[in-house]
Amino acid sequence: MEIPRTNLTLSFLFLCLFLVSAFSFSSFSPTDNHLINCGSSVDAAVYSRRFVSDDDYSNPNSPLLSATRTIPLANQNPSPNSPQIYNTARVFKKPSKYVFEIKDPGTHMVRLHFHPFISANLDLNYAKFHVLVNGYVVLSNFTVANVASPLIKEYFIWFESNKVVITFMPTRRDEFGFVNAIEVMSAPKDLISDTAILLKGNNTEKFDGLTKQALETMYRVNVGGPKVTPFNDTVWRTWIPDDGFFESSELSSRIYFSGRIKYQNGGASREVGPDFVYNTARVISSTNASIPEANMTWEFPVMEGYHYLVRLHFCDIASMSLGLLYFNVYINGHLAYENLDISSITYMLAAPFYADFVVDSDSHGVLRVSVGPSNMSMAHTVDGILNGVEILKMNNSVGSLDGKMCAGMVLRSWPRGSFGTLFPLVAVVCLLLSISVLMHKRTVGKGDFVVWSKLPTDVPDDNAKHSNEQLPGKVYVSSRSTDL
Ligand SMILES: *[C@@H]1O[C@H](CO)[C@@H](O)[C@H](O)[C@H]1NC(C)=O
Ligand SMILES: *[C@@H]1O[C@H](CO)[C@@H](O)[C@H](O)[C@H]1NC(C)=O
Ligand SMILES: *[C@@H]1O[C@H](CO)[C@@H](O)[C@H](O)[C@H]1NC(C)=O
Ligand SMILES: *[C@@H]1O[C@H](CO)[C@@H](O)[C@H](O)[C@H]1NC(C)=O
Ligand SMILES: *[C@@H]1O[C@H](CO)[C@@H](O)[C@H](O)[C@H]1NC(C)=O
Ligand SMILES: *[C@@H]1O[C@H](CO)[C@@H](O)[C@H](O)[C@H]1NC(C)=O
Ligand SMILES: *[C@@H]1O[C@H](CO)[C@@H](O)[C@H](O)[C@H]1NC(C)=O
Repeated sequence: MEIPRTNLTLSFLFLCLFLVSAFSFSSFSPTDNHLINCGSSVDAAVYSRRFVSDDDYSNPNSPLLSATRTIPLANQNPSPNSPQIYNTARVFKKPSKYVFEIKDPGTHMVRLHFHPFISANLDLNYAKFHVLVNGYVVLSNFTVANVASPLIKEYFIWFESNKVVITFMPTRRDEFGFVNAIEVMSAPKDLISDTAILLKGNNTEKFDGLTKQALETMYRVNVGGPKVTPFNDTVWRTWIPDDGFFESSELSSRIYFSGRIKYQNGGASREVGPDFVYNTARVISSTNASIPEANMTWEFPVMEGYHYLVRLHFCDIASMSLGLLYFNVYINGHLAYENLDISSITYMLAAPFYADFVVDSDSHGVLRVSVGPSNMSMAHTVDGILNGVEILKMNNSVGSLDGKMCAGMVLRSWPRGSFGTLFPLVAVVCLLLSISVLMHKRTVGKGDFVVWSKLPTDVPDDNAKHSNEQLPGKVYVSSRSTDL
């Protein structure tokens, strides 16, 4: 049991050390960068990123929206502090899709922004819908009601093809879906590596093919530190404080480091975790001759029936010198890392490093991460540290992140049958009616010029244009000045 663990650990470290992180010291600018302000006729800026209108006829950057019966909706009473993208939404009464052109195959970040509001004739708190991204079900029977702040769903998905199709589908004909804003952008190349450590009980194995899983961000936590907003993150993520997850322990303390975080090639890059994450941590330390007999533990509620990617961020900002910090890492009570010595990996202090583990939840739907002294820990030193935790859900065997139905089944659940047989009849009746109206007008001879080129539908006119397929022609590359 010991030998595989050691081998795996070593090969993993080897991998980490030699992964090229060419982006370490430059600010990240994604090749594909589609930011969409849904249901709005004007663009919006959020943290100096431009979200383009999906409803501007003259704008070649609008993504295709191959849908009838979508409704652009504006909040009549927007909250003054709310970013502009949340003041509008596009409502879907039938399955509808956005199609984005992809120039850079590989892992992409997809973010869906939801902040329901009540407009004159529709309350978005009552929406109920499914969302598919290419072949993956990312949300099913999804509702978002009465949330105080916007809900942002974030996914990491590998796109091979040159198109990303995001489908919104009401759960039933009398339901509807909505979205306020969409982001589809290239992820930094070193953000998701293909290999992780698979924890199976007390055993570890190598997990390959991580990049080909669809991942959903469940938790992204800045241990011991403040919230980090998209403005202060290298790839516009949000990191929340760990207080809600940490089981308080009087033997642990928070620390803050004001020096420079030493990003190096082979370690975690600034895109993997910004300075704000690595310059704070929680530690267990022994102040006298005895090593504390305690762990620091974080608990994260998760849904059973999925694998999770647990990414732990470490940066020794606490030790006085190299080689003094040894500790154990446990996930769900199983040893994930024994006698971890960060300095043997980074060869310097304040240099960040991360480790990826693939695990299941325990039987209570909880993921427990613990860090504590190992039997190589020393007195009068730091005996455990953690700077950040990310927990991402992996798609299940049917390619879903939310439920047991595959994308094909979800699509087929739309009552096409009744619609299909009804539609020709309705169309014929409409056609006959409109012809008779036309004939009547002509015979009455009022001289009115009646434009009657298509069947009447309840599509607002400005959406009809979306039925001609058009792809976004241009990509906005947001080059933001980094103040880090
Ligand atoms: C949505 O919920 C209904 C009722 O609970 C269920 O029958 C259906 O399978 C769910 N749909 C998906 C896509 O999970
Ligand atoms: C795993 O290790 C723990 C002690 O660390 C032990 O109690 C447990 O029985 C082991 N489980 C298996 C499946 O070997
Ligand atoms: C970014 O970080 C700085 C320094 O901690 C902080 O003062 C500022 O409020 C942050 N900005 C945002 C938008 O979070
Ligand atoms: C060391 O300090 C801890 C508290 O920090 C205390 O509980 C323990 O008794 C001390 N041990 C010795 C040997 O002084
Ligand atoms: C730390 O946690 C692990 C896993 O839950 C457990 O085996 C170990 O006994 C704990 N150590 C202490 C000192 O509580
Ligand atoms: C450290 O602990 C492991 C089990 O966790 C044990 O096999 C090993 O003998 C211990 N090493 C020392 C030096 O006590
Ligand atoms: C996730 O979906 C892919 C297919 O897109 C599949 O190969 C993979 O096995 C799925 N992951 C899991 C953990 O079942």
